[in-house]
Amino acid sequence: MARTNVNYEKLSTSYLFVDIARRKKAFEKDHPGVTILSLGIGDTTEPIPPSVIEGLTLGVRNLSNVATYKGYGDEQGDARLREAIARSYAQRGVSMDADEVFVSDGAKSDSANIQSIFAQESVVAVQDPAYPVYVDSNVIAGRTGAATGTTYDGIVYLPCNERNNFFPSLPAKKVDLIYLCSPNNPTGAVATKEQLSAFVRYARERRAVIIFDAAYSAFISDPALPRSIYEVDGAKECAIEINSFSKSSGFTGVRLAWSIVPKTLAAEDAAAGRLHAMWHRRQTTMFNGASRISQEGGLAALSERGIAENKAVTGYYMENARLIRECLVRKGLRVFGGVNAPYLWVKTPGAMGSWEFFDKMLSETHVVVTPGAGMGPSGEGYIRISAFGHRSAIEEAVRNIDAGLVL
Ligand code: MLT
Repeated sequence: MARTNVNYEKLSTSYLFVDIARRKKAFEKDHPGVTILSLGIGDTTEPIPPSVIEGLTLGVRNLSNVATYKGYGDEQGDARLREAIARSYAQRGVSMDADEVFVSDGAKSDSANIQSIFAQESVVAVQDPAYPVYVDSNVIAGRTGAATGTTYDGIVYLPCNERNNFFPSLPAKKVDLIYLCSPNNPTGAVATKEQLSAFVRYARERRAVIIFDAAYSAFISDPALPRSIYEVDGAKECAIEINSFSKSSGFTGVRLAWSIVPKTLAAEDAAAGRLHAMWHRRQTTMFNGASRISQEGGLAALSERGIAENKAVTGYYMENARLIRECLVRKGLRVFGGVNAPYLWVKTPGAMGSWEFFDKMLSETHVVVTPGAGMGPSGEGYIRISAFGHRSAIEEAVRNIDAGLVL
């Protein structure tokens, strides 16, 4: 008799962005003809630049000819792509072997799957608020108790708030896995080298492992801010890093990402090399690699021309962020992030709850945002606004907020 994974029953009924989409749809149904402006999910809108399209096209063309056709790829991803990724780190003074790079189909899948190489009884710490996948994947894996309100028993929530500039203090109790995201989704805060160093020291002393999500690193323009945790000495002994082409290269619908599992990474019962070997085993058992087409596109994205063209696109989104930020400040709202990150984190007016402000924004301005409460208890009282969007939609959102939002 087949039985189900009862851990699914602990989860809230749907994934946050599915919930938001449902509310948006209901509003559209009740208000036909109204243009809804989606600044909720961080989904790219601008076309992939020409050099990267050439790479993707080459990937397709290679499949059309018997001389260039190939089936399954190299097991950790195309060696040329892994070398190009390793070289991109070398430019920031970080050295790594190409075989410490694992190419995948997404940072979401990697950040959900990576927990599977750690012990069931691992104590998990997350920044609060956080991208929901870190918590939900551990709930599904059975590492938590039941949900109590908006938290799960067993997860250690590290509050990120205005008092600590949205970067958490070190955990007060011993934890085993620590998820950090910088530039942060959702708060848009970017960790400094000193802040990351404190966590690296903590992890090394306690043989904990940091899972560092750097999916938004391409949006950092301040040269003093680290784009990789490996810019901190000692991080290769205690941290896994996940990054993606989704937001930097418009690959949200193409799918391509990578994880770095250093060979020097160790844990309480794992000497250097063991976790690398385990992730290799996991990926080669359960994943057959990203498509050749997207990997050819990824290679083009890392070429000199690709980097320059993509920089123009990330700059476009950051200009959106500036327009939204200025509008919200004009309205007298308190706004964080949106400077080295494509997300703005906005304090709700008065004592208004996140979902209440979500509804107010939708009804008064037709702008869909993300309620902070959906990303952890410390997100209550905030909303996240994504700067991904066509300029015309952003300008319309700004006009609607200027004219329609009653505060
Ligand atoms: C977000 O809006 O947080 C992201 O787009 C979700 C994702 O990247 O999976």
